Amino acid sequence: MEFDQAVREILNRADIVRLVSEYVQLRKNGQHLWGLCPMHAEKTPSFSVNPSRRMYYCFGCHRGGNAITFLSEVAGLTKREAIERLAAETGVQLPQQRPSDPAEEAAARERSEIMKALVVAQEYFVSSLYAPEGERARDYLSDRGVDEQTAAAYGLGFGGVGGGLIRMLEKRGVPMQIAESAGLVLPSTRGTGYYERFRGRVICPVFNNDGAAVAFSARILPGDDDGPKYLNSPETAVFRKGSMVFGLYQARQAIRQSRHAIVVEGNFDVISLAASGVLNVVAPLGTALTPQQVRQLARFAGRVTLFFDGDEAGYKASRRSVSILLEEGVEGYIVSTPSGEDPDSMARRGGRQAIEAAVADARPMVTWLVDSLVGVFGRSPHGIRQVIEEVSGVLAAEKDRIRYGLYREEVARILGMDVRELKGILGGRQTDVPGRGPEVPNSVEVSMLKLLALSPALIDTLLDRGGREYFQSEEAIAVLNRMFDLYASGGDLEGELLAAVSEQGSVMSAVASVITMPTGISDVQAAFDETFLQLRIAFLNRRLNELKQAMRGAVDEDAKMRLLVDVTAVERQLKEAGPSLWRFRGTL
Ligand code: UTP
Ligand code: MN
Repeated sequence: MEFDQAVREILNRADIVRLVSEYVQLRKNGQHLWGLCPMHAEKTPSFSVNPSRRMYYCFGCHRGGNAITFLSEVAGLTKREAIERLAAETGVQLPQQRPSDPAEEAAARERSEIMKALVVAQEYFVSSLYAPEGERARDYLSDRGVDEQTAAAYGLGFGGVGGGLIRMLEKRGVPMQIAESAGLVLPSTRGTGYYERFRGRVICPVFNNDGAAVAFSARILPGDDDGPKYLNSPETAVFRKGSMVFGLYQARQAIRQSRHAIVVEGNFDVISLAASGVLNVVAPLGTALTPQQVRQLARFAGRVTLFFDGDEAGYKASRRSVSILLEEGVEGYIVSTPSGEDPDSMARRGGRQAIEAAVADARPMVTWLVDSLVGVFGRSPHGIRQVIEEVSGVLAAEKDRIRYGLYREEVARILGMDVRELKGILGGRQTDVPGRGPEVPNSVEVSMLKLLALSPALIDTLLDRGGREYFQSEEAIAVLNRMFDLYASGGDLEGELLAAVSEQGSVMSAVASVITMPTGISDVQAAFDETFLQLRIAFLNRRLNELKQAMRGAVDEDAKMRLLVDVTAVERQLKEAGPSLWRFRGTL
């Protein structure tokens, strides 16, 4: 109750016109102020603010609300965060809200302690860069054309030579166990104590929407050979890798203004483009672009241009991203980066102009995809059929019927086919694609392994749910074990899978194909749940048959009774597992 009162007071005091003006240029017309909607792309203003009612409303996207909803929508804050920020700005005291759940309270306390540790670390990293020990890192940055202003905008730092961060954390009263939960330090492998995860490296902090560093991506200095090129923060209570985008905090304003986000692969591509004056750039933290990341961008941008490296990996990453962009309803473009180049090298050589020219030359994603698949499979009847299969898998992600139809026309045009003929193929369900061979015996197992390859964290889930025993084929089990070992030991699972692509006919190579081709699946978790169910049902059916067979062979009545109990139990489980939808089979 008290809390509601405080919220009302905040809304009374907050100056909505000033707040909105930070994001939108407003002009007065009649009683209202008008501007271009920050929540959707438009060319004529349909976004209005009513100062007397302290509300806003967009006649284009029909979103509206008060200062709190505005801040949470446009600045990407949770409602609670928006309230807290406005409370601070308006000087309203929020009553201490007692979270009812003690576990939740403890978690919130831990998150806030971790955030404090991260503040200390960020401060330390920046000061180390400018301390004498930071000389190599400073030289490295200036060699790469990163000026001080850009370094400051991105909060770049140096990890120090070891020891300093721990001392500073201790001085500021941060317990080492919190520093460890924050991903800053690790227990020392020999003896006692801790060591600093990022020492000796150039630090690229990952900022959240409030501009607080929640994670670090630390690049090795040339000449050093201590570990991989980048060391990243692990997932922590305040950092979820797949949903954060590197550089978004700095790029937000530029993306919002242009309604356009450029996505590059590397942190240093972002920094280098920013240094050259192209500011609407972000990178997906070393993972493939995820739906959550695209959603982050879609809050500010209607258009997303992928500007990946001009190599096999960049090309594959582009292909894999198309279905995600389609699924999220974002207008996607893809730059054909010249072979051997990346955005950084192009910016270094040709400056802002070269980047803008490359981005202006980007092709619409579906056109690019079909062209590139034709490049891979060729225009022979076999090749074209393969292209159609691949494209149909991707286009399935497009939910909008009108766009789907237009894409189909585009595909027909590029393939030189009659659109009606293509419609006969694409228009139907996935599984109607002609020529799809009969199911191989263990296709569900392979589908499951593919999903695990797409999202290795699901390996844990699978094993937790006892899924290992559902596998039947020895080769599939061997692949599962191998994937689990790599995943659990933090090894290079993706690298190993990619290496297996060329092994003709092995299960591993079939599994690996999923990470080189677009799948059209964006909700991997849903696909996993369903595939898990299929595995389980197949397993239970096998079990049931075995039991029934055993019952037929059983001689003594006791054994028969026991088996009957088992049969009944399995039958019940099967019934509970229910009819499965087999929804994702066509795409995997
Ligand atoms: P790149 O190797 O292309 O990095 O990997 P980069 O930032 O362009 O670096 P330079 O230009 O060679 O210095 C792309 C991204 O993948 C992640 C990082 O986020 C990197 O920016 N990555 C790469 C890792 O997380 N770990 C690695 O070992 C390598
Ligand atoms: Mn790179």
